[in-house]
Amino acid sequence: MNNNFYVTTPIYYVNDEPHIGHAYTTILADVLAGYHRILGDDVYFLTGTDEHGQKLQNAAAKNGREPLDYCDEMVLRFQNIWKKLEIRNDDFIRTTEERHKKVVKTILKTIYDKGEIYSDDYEGWYCVHEERFWTEKDLVEGNCPDCDRPVSKITEKNYFFKMSQYQDWLIEYIKNNPGFIQPDFRRNEVLGFLKRPLGDLCISRPKSRLSWGIELPFDKDYVCYVWFDALINYISAIGYLSDEERFNNLWPAIHLIGKDILTTHAVYWPCMLKAMGVPQPKTIFAHGWWLMGETKMSKSLGNVIKPLDLADKYGVDAFRYFLVREMTLGQDSIYAEKSFILRYNSDLANDLGNLLSRTLKMIKSFNDGKIPTPNAINEDNELSIQSAKLIDTIREKIEAFKLNHVVEDILDLVRATNRHIEKNKPWRLAKEGQVEKLGNVLYSAAETLRIVSVLLTPIMPDKCGSIQKQLGLADGDKTILKLKWGCLRSETSIKPGEGLFPRLQKPKSKKSEKPDKTGPSLLEGVIGFEDFGKVKLKTAVVLEAEKVEKADKLLKLQIDIGGEKRQIVAGIAEYYSPDEMIGKRLIIVSNLKPAKIRGIESNGMLLAAKSNDRLVLLTTDGEIPPGATIS
Ligand code: MSP
Repeated sequence: MNNNFYVTTPIYYVNDEPHIGHAYTTILADVLAGYHRILGDDVYFLTGTDEHGQKLQNAAAKNGREPLDYCDEMVLRFQNIWKKLEIRNDDFIRTTEERHKKVVKTILKTIYDKGEIYSDDYEGWYCVHEERFWTEKDLVEGNCPDCDRPVSKITEKNYFFKMSQYQDWLIEYIKNNPGFIQPDFRRNEVLGFLKRPLGDLCISRPKSRLSWGIELPFDKDYVCYVWFDALINYISAIGYLSDEERFNNLWPAIHLIGKDILTTHAVYWPCMLKAMGVPQPKTIFAHGWWLMGETKMSKSLGNVIKPLDLADKYGVDAFRYFLVREMTLGQDSIYAEKSFILRYNSDLANDLGNLLSRTLKMIKSFNDGKIPTPNAINEDNELSIQSAKLIDTIREKIEAFKLNHVVEDILDLVRATNRHIEKNKPWRLAKEGQVEKLGNVLYSAAETLRIVSVLLTPIMPDKCGSIQKQLGLADGDKTILKLKWGCLRSETSIKPGEGLFPRLQKPKSKKSEKPDKTGPSLLEGVIGFEDFGKVKLKTAVVLEAEKVEKADKLLKLQIDIGGEKRQIVAGIAEYYSPDEMIGKRLIIVSNLKPAKIRGIESNGMLLAAKSNDRLVLLTTDGEIPPGATIS
């Protein structure tokens, strides 16, 4: 039986303008789905749109439209953009579809009949502008924390899902299933959140305030809370309550989400599934954010990146490549067009594009435009060994969501092939009449390109198709897809075409970015190795974290630096909450003289980078045990 890989993206608010963040999650799901397909797994990929709720109702009213009519128009923007970005989803679910609404209603009714939904008066501070409730402690000087407008106390009858009863079960479940919430530090964040008492979940909105939603089957004056409705898409789309066999074949899912919606997915959703008696998702994977320079992307700051602008300018495949290559899954990444161009020129134009064009040119000049026949011994096999190693490790890396490592390995193979050509100098072999060796070198280059084209197809489907065409492989030729060295057929006529990735102009640096000639010399303040060697840096992991009383900026941390527990006090409380710190991997200076900060002993110092009003902790690119030395 094949492995099953059912992957989902969040369903996006249909009235939002699609931006790089939406594109990222969707491309990520598409790329993972692509890798599982080439590994032979049964893949099912779902995305869609979230179409109920207050924001939609308001947007439709503002445009003088009926909500559904408005959704029908807005949804096309997502659907069209996914087509343009070469997304191969198997299904697209809209929460306004009958197949979805029916399932939501049945679930509500079942849970209600089981006594897990009750009605109660809800009292809170309501902000008319933001149209939401706040608790007393959310308020900032008595006003709405989002828009700073006055709020009023409202009491309203609502329906509640008894989520609190699942708190202990959920904590145990998360602890017993390490792969359930990933990466690890997000799992710790959820466990931190669950240390506080979990309340029941308000799952209704009175129609007097909001009518655009799924009506509660047990009270026609209310509609369902939009998140309770939306999460159910992951099961309504695949036959839950309508096609049991299909559902059982596909479920459980791997949910890809952004870190902003971790609580809804890792707390509400598991409790809802538990109440329904449905098994839990396999994994909830939360990726980081794309930031613009130092800041968040937001409409109000006017710095939102529209995916199609970039894809139109540089090509869809290059855009997909950049997103996948640049983000270490789980962490935030900064988007800058300059890094895009640098990455494009180095990886795609110089390494991959150049390998294809030089290989084809040499085959044309030295072997009459036909793939050469390697000799039986194939003495030239270091590339075949590296390819085999790479192929062997793909599954493990993809299953661990280490996509950028996979890309890096593939590019290493491309670079190794370029080096191989330089080392063996086919042009000299041709001159010297060393036909056999020449055939080996050229065959190896072409065969590596074929394997690379298969391995990069999930990321760059169009360009990889073009590599295969230029190598003379016909569509439908099964050998194209074989992830095994030696499948490229000799004597095939190559069909060189246009350059794959024309080099891009380096962006002109702005005046302010030019080195300041009158400024200090680069050598001023330099230190020798012997000075640097005195500083002992080590990796550490945070075990406990708490605020320091009466010191707004300080956190007291208990850390493990490899079998030794230490306490350090750090001025990071404005940037990191104690819960967020638990499980974080840090880099610390381990041989600092202990000091007292506000009377508390601090034994070491953590490293962080600061720019303007942003501070980020330095951490390691991959997992490494605490106590590792840094050199
Ligand atoms: N409708 C809800 C999700 C319901 S799922 C049952 C929602 N929609 S959204 O339109 O706001 O999309 C949120 C998702 O977009 C995030 O989880 C994330 O996947 C993606 N991103 C939005 N902005 C982002 C960045 N700046 N960077 C990366 N991804 C972010 O929330």
